[in-house]
Amino acid sequence: MSYLNLTNIAKSFGPRSILHNISLSLAEGEFVSIVGASASGKTTLVKIASGLATADSGSVTIAGRAVNGFIEEAGMVFQNYSLLPWLSALENVRLAVEPAFPQWTPKQHTDQAMKYLDMVGLGKAALKTPAQLSGGMRQRVSIARAFAAEPRILFLDEPFGALDALTRATLQQELAQLCRAAGRPVTALMITNSVEEAILLSDRIHALGRGPGATLSPGFTVDLARPRSAGLLMHDAKAVSLRHRLAEFLTTGAVAAPALVKEVA
Ligand SMILES: Nc1ncnc2c1ncn2[C@@H]1O[C@H](COP(=O)(O)OP(=O)(O)O)[C@@H](O)[C@H]1O
Ligand SMILES: [Mg+2]
Repeated sequence: MSYLNLTNIAKSFGPRSILHNISLSLAEGEFVSIVGASASGKTTLVKIASGLATADSGSVTIAGRAVNGFIEEAGMVFQNYSLLPWLSALENVRLAVEPAFPQWTPKQHTDQAMKYLDMVGLGKAALKTPAQLSGGMRQRVSIARAFAAEPRILFLDEPFGALDALTRATLQQELAQLCRAAGRPVTALMITNSVEEAILLSDRIHALGRGPGATLSPGFTVDLARPRSAGLLMHDAKAVSLRHRLAEFLTTGAVAAPALVKEVA
């Protein structure tokens, strides 16, 4: 049974149709990415999926329940998902741990927050405020905060979009590692503008076509063993073919036949 279910989602802003007839299902534990051009409606879609915005029509369910407003069991990592500037990294993470584990003692909350800051390499920076951290470190805090609440589902909206290439590559690997190490199925819906990033992290990828009235491509299964590395994926025949097919959809809106793509690759 699918864990996250979007059925026939449509959304307009005034006369402008942004999303049209979007249906998508994620199995429990599945990592699905959506790639698309900017302004194609990706953020609108992830906001609807996570209950932060409502669709004009269609429905969203998580674990069989209709999504209606903020979802407690979800973790969020957004490109500019701001940390509270007056709190330390530790306090920012702890703030997400408290409501997730109300039965715990204050010490347990702190220990959990520290454990996840350590996992993203920020143990020593735990007492710094966001202003004292680099962009990459701030995004690590956001990721630690999302995972520390041990969510069953994660929504990631261009989580690494604001980072330089090197930091981005490191954080991609850290995210993959956190998902592997979670010890429970973590279902994830990630938005990205990078086909390579999607291939690196996902089980399945959909392209969101150009608006107005953007629709989703069929799913492209990422049949590649984990752990994956960006270097390996550059040369892997399956990854190269997948990259071509996704690029083809993003530019023409049509799905190329795999056989044709192999020749190109
Ligand atoms: N609250 C809003 N009111 C009016 N227009 C909006 C609103 N949110 C997004 N849009 C418009 O909808 C389109 C898609 O936006 P968005 O979902 O943020 O795209 P993406 O994340 O793919 O860049 C854009 O043209 C944007 O200007
Ligand atoms: Mg966006």
